Amino acid sequence: MTAFDLGPYSTDPSYGRAQTLDAADPLRSFADEFSPLDPGLIYLDGNSLGRLPRATSSRLAEVLDHEWGDRLIRSWSERWWDQADRLGDAVAELIGAKPREVLVADSTSVVLFKLTLGALHARPARSRIVTDALNFPTDNYITKAAADLSGCTVTTVASADGIHGPTEQLVAELDEDTALLTLSHVAFKSGYLYDMERLTAAAHDVGALVLWDLSHSVGAVPVHLNRCRADLAVGCTYKYLNGGPGSPAFLYVGDHVDTEITNPLTGWWGHAEPFDFDLQFEPARSIRRFQTGTMPILSLAALEPGVALARAAGLPRIREKSLALTAFFIDVAEQILAPLGFRLASPRDGKQRGSHVALQHPDGWRITQAIIEQANLIPDFRAPDNIRFGFSPLYSSFTEAHTAVGRIARVVRGKLHLDYPVAPTTVT
Ligand SMILES: Cc1ncc(COP(=O)(O)O)c(C=O)c1O
Repeated sequence: MTAFDLGPYSTDPSYGRAQTLDAADPLRSFADEFSPLDPGLIYLDGNSLGRLPRATSSRLAEVLDHEWGDRLIRSWSERWWDQADRLGDAVAELIGAKPREVLVADSTSVVLFKLTLGALHARPARSRIVTDALNFPTDNYITKAAADLSGCTVTTVASADGIHGPTEQLVAELDEDTALLTLSHVAFKSGYLYDMERLTAAAHDVGALVLWDLSHSVGAVPVHLNRCRADLAVGCTYKYLNGGPGSPAFLYVGDHVDTEITNPLTGWWGHAEPFDFDLQFEPARSIRRFQTGTMPILSLAALEPGVALARAAGLPRIREKSLALTAFFIDVAEQILAPLGFRLASPRDGKQRGSHVALQHPDGWRITQAIIEQANLIPDFRAPDNIRFGFSPLYSSFTEAHTAVGRIARVVRGKLHLDYPVAPTTVT
């Protein structure tokens, strides 16, 4: 039981606006496509782990009972062999790529490694990688590891305020010795959204390749890889694509660089004829050459319904709602939470914002714990003081955004967070 009222913050004038926006929301019915939550819970962490689509349970039951349980190894030829291709084609549609430019496989870290090293091998006379300090840690670790293996250096450009991407400084860093520009399209902490077209063109002007991490944009922000002539991309599927914990990642290799990029982690699944069991490696003449080992069939099956939902809703409608939700949340948070010590740590300009909003507070960690445990509201926390609120347009509502602000205000005014430890003890 919680110590205070979890109900809507209906005395606030914006509450009516939230209800009006929900009533007019063309994506409203998509929330019913997800497994129901405990009725009082507000889940604003779909940017970390998306919710469970209802169809995933039945799809998994089918794989377990029929495809695996019944058909056993025959399912490889009946269904499984092409499963990753079909899924890759479906993801391609969400990121502005052509069928067969996208492969679903591995984790984001692993596909990032494959493509980073593949890019460095394609530019052997160059010795620099350029990235920014807003990137997700795994991106930095992988970039450094690939750089070390190929004798390259990494230039990490700082952001002046820790929120906005340092676009001009990145452009200034690019030179004839740059092999690769590698960035997250949407920054994991602040939600800053880069101008993909501009940075891709700037890298191409000096003959460098570009690798985009789409983990925080796929399924939430329209991505136009082909239109931008982006060379390489990777991304997670367990966030806005609702593929489930640890669901496989995807990689994209643009047609225009296809002949240049090789997979440095060659395994038998990337072989042109894996069932010839030839001891000599001969890469598949398609995106399948980036496969390494046996495909995780259960995880691929679990991802299908989430991808189908995003395609059914369509990126233009998803983006429109995402922008409206985040703008509404920022507006209400600034009125109600700014006087309580919260500060916006995401871009105010919607054109520069992904689908999550970070609020900073000096007591951010204690407040996060208190709102999860006492207010039945789940955001997440990123050190040192960012509370991230992810808005997943397929199931988040304006009333939830409003009620979340009200619950946080009640926790902080009631000083409930002061009962929690100051230092982070676990990962959220
Ligand atoms: C930008 C970005 N890249 C990569 C990852 C994670 O990669 P992996 O799935 O390999 O853990 C995350 C996780 O949140 C992320 O935000």
